[in-house]
Amino acid sequence: MRVNKEVSALKGSVQVIVGAQWGDEGKGRVVDYLGENVDVFARYQGGANAGHTVIVENKKYVFHLLPSGMLYPSRICVIGNGVVIDPEQLIAEFDLLQQQGMDRARLVISEAAHVVMPYHKLLDVAEEEFRGNSKKIGTTGRGIGPCYVDKYNRMGIRMSDLLDPDILREKLTVNLDLKNLELAKVFNKGPVAFDEIFNTALEWGKMLEPYISDVSALMYEQLSAGKSVLLEGAQGTLLDVDHGTYPFVTSSNPISGGSTIGLGISPTCITDVAGVVKAYCTRVGAGPFPTEDSGETGDYLRERGGEYGATTGRPRRCGWLDLVALNYSVRINGLSMLALTKLDILTGLDEIKVCTGYEIDGKTTDLFSSNIKVLEKVKPSYKVLKGWQENISSCRSFEDLPSAAKNYVEFIEEYSGVKAGLIGVGPGRKETIIRE
Ligand code: GDP
Ligand code: IMO
Ligand code: MG
Repeated sequence: MRVNKEVSALKGSVQVIVGAQWGDEGKGRVVDYLGENVDVFARYQGGANAGHTVIVENKKYVFHLLPSGMLYPSRICVIGNGVVIDPEQLIAEFDLLQQQGMDRARLVISEAAHVVMPYHKLLDVAEEEFRGNSKKIGTTGRGIGPCYVDKYNRMGIRMSDLLDPDILREKLTVNLDLKNLELAKVFNKGPVAFDEIFNTALEWGKMLEPYISDVSALMYEQLSAGKSVLLEGAQGTLLDVDHGTYPFVTSSNPISGGSTIGLGISPTCITDVAGVVKAYCTRVGAGPFPTEDSGETGDYLRERGGEYGATTGRPRRCGWLDLVALNYSVRINGLSMLALTKLDILTGLDEIKVCTGYEIDGKTTDLFSSNIKVLEKVKPSYKVLKGWQENISSCRSFEDLPSAAKNYVEFIEEYSGVKAGLIGVGPGRKETIIRE
């Protein structure tokens, strides 16, 4: 492979799709919609904590580890080095897709991606119990945090290790010596057996070997050839380990900047960044949520919006759209477009509130802070907009929308300074409005 020094002169395009809130914004459906002419889809962080729903011809697919582009025939679907892979989950997901006859894309898995081992999942659950009810993060229990801990502690097991029994034996021995001590002495749990994990991991390696390779080199080759690439963020900006509401966050960097690290591509390759924004806000798990509505409106949004987790089935906390938080997301990610989903869910409300400022200790600000001590004090200031009663799910152009719905979208655009190029008016592929 010859490397062109002008990486920015690569002919291909890279669009990053990120969650602009606390996850579950509808990234899967947006990736699916924007993916029609995409050559390469790639996940760059997170793991099976994600649950990305795509509905095509009334059939529902939920992706946890596989990129949401898997439904498109003859595309390349990449799982980058930044993702933590639970092979058991990946194989199950792939098998299910095969049974449905939808395994039509070419899957490529980074050899440098870390493996979520069974003990990571045990530790995830044990650590949550240890924190106790008042300090729980409310993780998905998928072993994400403990796996990233091992990665950064330089003792993790990578996908390439599954292909080499000697290296695997050596690494697993050290890991289990430590994990079993931790399980016994800290959490009072029984040990995990070496042989069972070792043999299972070798089996995973055998099954996944045809897909494992050098993802960074592949991305470079594809971009050199002028291909169109779409990077699919998991979770959301406010769950980012650095820029989210720490410690109530996930253990990776879902923001657009995370995509270059998680795939081994240059930041100068990124062409544009789209932020997926739900027309209201939701959050699963613990942590600050200034516009949360624990009353009737929250219940209304949860039931109408089907706000139950795609991974854990937990009810999602619901509330009004927070434009202060959205502007933070615009800044951190460099959003060039908004994909506004679930506008149809707001139908039927007489009034729609939208948060345009925070009052903290008697002072007003429009600057979001990721510091939870500050966030806990926030009293949101709302602008009240008129609602609409019409069913909008058959609208296919912006002009078709009732004027109150148009006003709502335009208000968001004006406040954030970013255009809503895509509007979701239903979960299906066709229930989408595109604005040029
Ligand atoms: P993701 O994790 O960001 O991909 O989002 P999830 O799949 O976890 O949650 C989004 C949910 O909203 C899914 O059930 C989608 O089918 C649904 N959805 C996405 N966009 C729309 C929309 O515009 N309208 C409606 N009614 N549902 C939507
Ligand atoms: P998608 O990609 C919403 C939340 C969990 C918990 C916190 C940490 O579908 O938008 P973790 O298991 O990652 O250690 O949990 O992050 N969380 C999500 N919330 N959508 C997700 O993914 C999430 N993935 C993790 O609920 O609060
Ligand atoms: Mg989800």
